[in-house]
Amino acid sequence: MAPRQETSLENQIMCGIVGLVSAGNDNILPLLVKCLKRLEYRGYDSAGFAFIDSDSGRIIVVKDRGKIDEVVARYGIVERYAARVGIAHTRWATHGPPSKVNAHPHVDCGGTIAIVHNGIINNYLELRRKLAEKGHKFRSDTDTEVIAHLLEDLLDENSDMLGAIRKAMNILRGSYAVVVLSTRDPSRLYFMKRVSPLIVGVAPSVSIVASDIPSIIEITRRVLVLHDGEYGFIEPGRVYVEHDGRPIDASQRFRTITWSVSDIEKAGYPHYMLKEIMEQPRALYETYLGVLSDPALHKAVDLIDEARTVFVTGAGTSFHAGLAFQYYMYRYAGRPVLTFIASEFYVYSNAAGQDDVLIAISQSGETIDTLTALRSFKQRGARVIAVSNVVESAIPRESDVKLYTRAGPEIGVAATKTYLTQVLVLQALVSQMTGDGFIKLLGDAHRVTARSLAKFQVFIDRLARKLYRKEHIYVLGRGLGAFMAYEGALKIKEVSYIHAEAYPAGESKHGPIALVEPGFPVIFIGTPPSELVEKIAANIEEMSARGAVTILIGTQQYRDVDADYKIILDVDDDILAPYAIMPLLQLLAYRLAVLRGYDPDKPRNLAKTVTVE
Ligand code: G6P
Repeated sequence: MAPRQETSLENQIMCGIVGLVSAGNDNILPLLVKCLKRLEYRGYDSAGFAFIDSDSGRIIVVKDRGKIDEVVARYGIVERYAARVGIAHTRWATHGPPSKVNAHPHVDCGGTIAIVHNGIINNYLELRRKLAEKGHKFRSDTDTEVIAHLLEDLLDENSDMLGAIRKAMNILRGSYAVVVLSTRDPSRLYFMKRVSPLIVGVAPSVSIVASDIPSIIEITRRVLVLHDGEYGFIEPGRVYVEHDGRPIDASQRFRTITWSVSDIEKAGYPHYMLKEIMEQPRALYETYLGVLSDPALHKAVDLIDEARTVFVTGAGTSFHAGLAFQYYMYRYAGRPVLTFIASEFYVYSNAAGQDDVLIAISQSGETIDTLTALRSFKQRGARVIAVSNVVESAIPRESDVKLYTRAGPEIGVAATKTYLTQVLVLQALVSQMTGDGFIKLLGDAHRVTARSLAKFQVFIDRLARKLYRKEHIYVLGRGLGAFMAYEGALKIKEVSYIHAEAYPAGESKHGPIALVEPGFPVIFIGTPPSELVEKIAANIEEMSARGAVTILIGTQQYRDVDADYKIILDVDDDILAPYAIMPLLQLLAYRLAVLRGYDPDKPRNLAKTVTVE
């Protein structure tokens, strides 16, 4: 049993899946590659394709470790083959090395069914044992392969793929978005969805099923988001959906996506991360306009007003946006709130009840840690407010009130524009709670960011050249500055692999300073109120005395404070400070990554959307 358990961990995968079926005689493989590449942010350590070869009518599987472009080039997929129907997969392994045999698609014994899967099958060991007893031969160690053999087995009893899928939905436990290719129905692709995201796009000549919108947008702007427990098939120009054996009329659920293809391309920038840092002014302005006119903001305020305790949760960058919210809520609305990291939910959810509110922050709306926290709070009766960038993704779908950032798609793995837009939506919430508040001030956020980037870009480039060979950096601040320091340090470590650590500046004396020796870089984030200025100045002196290289990024109040490198921003209030400071820290992280020779869009071991616990 023990080695199998490890195997199960090895196969906890986070992936992007896509399937295309076309009515014409054109070869869809180049399009399939393109659609898959739009999902590469979901994982990129191996890739694979299965399609029905137009010449032989047989399923061909091509898969290997490596990024999509590498696999496509290695096997000459576009040049050597032609197909009208195909499925594809890009994989990210959380444990164990990616390998050719574990890459998707996986096929049944007869080679007539091929599947791609995103998620985890919890009962795969039991299913695998039963299917092996019946004579099925397994080629990989993956949980996914059982789905192909299970369908093969059910087909034998039943001879109809839809019927087999219907039964499989009741047998498979866990989270799964699955697309099935079968030689029996070469003009259809079947799908099943539970927990993991899956959406459908239908156009007259070609239909698509995929994990996310950037992929679909290649084909159509009209998108159907599938719900948990739904399954069915796509054909050119048509989708058929069932739930629990009953046909579903999903035609009313199609919605139009306003993102354009150029929104999700690099627009001339060398990396998505840089493009996304630079487009923050636009993202902020659109988010400002959106939230200003959103009735959900008032509903959210009502929920919070009535709440006994307000909990806030998220993972990674979204958690850091939650910390900023905590600061503003206490300072401006006088409401203490409790912010916790989503995967630690069990510490807090036990005491939660129907008088409480949880604010769940998630760019993707799919992060499983945040979703699990949300479900646990909901189970105890708490009301949930979602803050997400992806309309109708799982987290908003399961929440009572949905607030959206309007940052557009974020492709770079490191969150940039979505952080500041989250902060803006959360500030708008606080502002609304305080009556007339400071909502008008938020209309300046985009200008503050644009000015800061324009004015200090060159300085940040120079600073990056001084720092890029360092192995450690501290990022220190107090109050709001400390919360931004956490996000700044996360950016630096994620993309440049420099060990960057954030602390409240006052805490640095209680341990971290022990590591400081001549040349050790320490970045200070100086934010209001003015009472903090002297304290930060003293912290800078303490570090200087030990030979540290000190860097100060501060608001107006800090103009007389000395440091080796200094940026003084033209803002002096804590509402607008993040819009001036954060883009510079993001840009620094980006430049450090590039100078060290790394691809900031695809940091090693990270994925943009983490759908496993
Ligand atoms: C991953 C990403 C982070 C992101 C976190 C939460 O770890 O690499 O950039 O902040 O997930 O994602 P979410 O979509 O829930 O905001």
